[in-house]
This record gives sequence, C-alpha cells and structure tokens, in this order.
Amino acid sequence: MVRTVAYKECFAKEKTDENVLPRTETCDFPEIENSTYPVFHIGDSLAILKEFPSKSIDFCMTSPPYWGQRSYENGGIGLENKPEQFIGNLLEVTKEIQRVLKDSGSFWFNIGDTYKNKVLQGIPWRIAIKMMDEQGWILRNDVVWNKHKGAMDSAADKLRNIHEMIFHFVKTTDYYYNDEAIRQNPQTTTVRNGAVVSSSGVCGIRYKRQIELSTALSKEEKENAMRDLQQVLKKVEKGDIPDFRMIIRNQQRATHSDSEKVSGRAKELKEKGYYFLLYSKNGALPTDVWEILPEDTQNREKHYAVYPEDLCKIPILATCPPDGVALDPFCGSGTTNKVAYDLHRKSIGIDISEKYINIAKQRVSQMYLNLL
Ligand SMILES: C[S@@+](CC[C@H](N)C(=O)[O-])C[C@H]1O[C@@H](n2cnc3c(N)ncnc32)[C@H](O)[C@@H]1O
Repeated sequence: MVRTVAYKECFAKEKTDENVLPRTETCDFPEIENSTYPVFHIGDSLAILKEFPSKSIDFCMTSPPYWGQRSYENGGIGLENKPEQFIGNLLEVTKEIQRVLKDSGSFWFNIGDTYKNKVLQGIPWRIAIKMMDEQGWILRNDVVWNKHKGAMDSAADKLRNIHEMIFHFVKTTDYYYNDEAIRQNPQTTTVRNGAVVSSSGVCGIRYKRQIELSTALSKEEKENAMRDLQQVLKKVEKGDIPDFRMIIRNQQRATHSDSEKVSGRAKELKEKGYYFLLYSKNGALPTDVWEILPEDTQNREKHYAVYPEDLCKIPILATCPPDGVALDPFCGSGTTNKVAYDLHRKSIGIDISEKYINIAKQRVSQMYLNLL
C-alpha cells in the first residue's frame, strides 16, 4: 500500500484529490509543493519493480553488488554460487528496468568484475552482451571509470586493477540527450595579426590552398568548397563557433570510417568532395574515460561500496530530463538519489537493506535541512 502511494506521488503530473495523499513512511517530506525529495522502497528490487507501471521512468543508474565478494545486509544479489546464476539474476532485473523505462530513457549500469581461482570472470561484458543479444538493449557507451586506486592486491603475476565499467544503454535510438548540459571547456576565437583565428589557430589559409591545388575536386566542387569555407569562416569571425575542421577529398582522412556504408560523412566526401566538423562554442563533450577517485572509505562500516557522487552527474545532466524521474534499484546509501535531488530531479531508490535505506534517507534529509 505504501508503495502504491509513493509512486503515485512520484509519477503524478498534476495534483488531484486522488494522488495527493497523506504523509507516508516512504516519502518524508511529501507536503512540499512539487517535492523532488526521493521516494525509497525497502525490499527486493525485482519484486518492487514488477509493481511499477510500464514506461514510467526516465532514467536509471545503478551499481549492483559485485559477484561473490561482499556480504550486504539482508543478503540479496551477489551471493550466488556461480557467476552464471548471478548474471541470470541481474538479467531479470535489467529486463524489468527495460519495461519500466520510457522509450526516451537511459540506463547507466556500473558493474564491477571479480576474480575466482585466478580467473577474471569478465562479468560486466558477459552481462552487457546478453542484454544486447537477448533483451535488445542498445549500447551507446562503455565508459571506463579510472578509479586511480584499487583494492589491496598482493598478486605478483598480474597487473593491478583500477578500472570499472559503466555502460550507457538505451531502448531506442530516439532517446533524450542534453549534450549542452555536459559540454566542457568552452573555446573562443582570437585575433592574430589582425585576422580572426579559431581556438586552435585555424584561419582557413591552408584549406583554401588545398582546395585550389586539389586534383581530386572538380571545378564545381572547388567553387562550392570555397563558398562553404567562407561561410564557416564568417561563423568563426562572428563567434558562432569557436573552431572547425575541413575534410577534403584525398587531402584529409575521413574522421570516421572510409566506407560509405558505415559512415554518412564518407558518403558526403564521395558525393560533395568535402565536409566540415563544426565545434560547439559550449565546449567539447566529455570522453568515455572518467577520472574519478572512489568515494572515501571512511564510511566502510556503514556501507561497503558507495560510488562517488561525481559518477552520477554526467548521466543525470545529459539523460534525465529536469522534470523526469530517476531510479536506482540497488540504491545502497542513495548516491544516485542524492545527486538527482541536488540536480532537482525526482527519484526512486530501492534497496533490500533497511539499514542502507535509512542511511540514504539521512543523506538526503541532511541536504534538505541545509536548504531550510
Ligand atoms: C554496490 S551497492 C550500491 C551502492 C550505491 N551505489 C551507493 O552509492 O551507496 C549494492 C546494493 O544492492 C543491494 N541489493 C543487493 N541485492 C538486492 C536486491 N535483490 N534488491 C535490492 N537491493 C539489493 C545491497 O543491499 C547494496 O546496498
């Protein structure tokens, strides 16, 4: 009953007599107008997710337990005897996540790997490949989280492990993505010797010479290339774009594949003789290697594997709409929910351990109290 009440509050777009309900155990501050205070559920994530309506969630980010490494409160996933059983159990949860996620939604999945009898199990990729092959997920990024420091490791016959995978999955190719929210290091144009040059020093002279001297462009293609180059240079001059690159047939290598079958740009190069790469004035997108130190381990007694808040920022900013609902089905101490709250998104956290849910509530409540 409490659960029903909680997600009614979380999903309702407008308040009606039916969905404005009295204070519940799972939502501590429901009296706040349009509250983004997270809704927490204690219990098995698979069972709880099964009660959620289909296509009701905009964003999911989670980090399930490692296989066979940790013993959390109340057991749960990760204690299976064989990795295949662990993978099977997680796949049941990912299937349910797929059902509750909207078609525009994103799922960011952080999975750690495990050694058993000296054998690295390859668990993240084994799960990811099954998700793609058996469940139809689309993988958009395999982010390498460089933690810079790993667990104590006394083995002298292998390298130290310091990375984890974070997969970005979507259900359809038409998913929500706010690239502007995560662009970094905006660049600006400068004036050098009286001429406007792009942030990396491009002023177009070299491209003009390459077009003029090209033996691979027809006369008409050269005229078009010169005209379009002038237009791009105007944009640089006006500050509309900070930088650009021009790819000219037989001069520069295509930035993607040379095959027209796989690259639209290769096709453009073949048909038009050139194309441009225009840089955003808001900066570049982050790369798929993230340098983020693990959460300080002072809280070890309370919870084993808190992930850092910084890990959730790019995913939430880019793929959870501001009025969307975020979900973490293995929320532990509630990091995803805390960051979602910080970034003014509604969220739901599920964990099998009441103790961890209480820690999660305390973390978010502390923030809430600080705001008063
Ligand atoms: C790696 S921790 C998540 C840590 C979290 N990202 C954080 O920052 O605190 C995994 C969590 O999954 C929970 N868990 C394990 N099996 C579960 C299940 N079947 N249903 C719900 N939660 C489960 C554990 O209690 C644990 O808190």
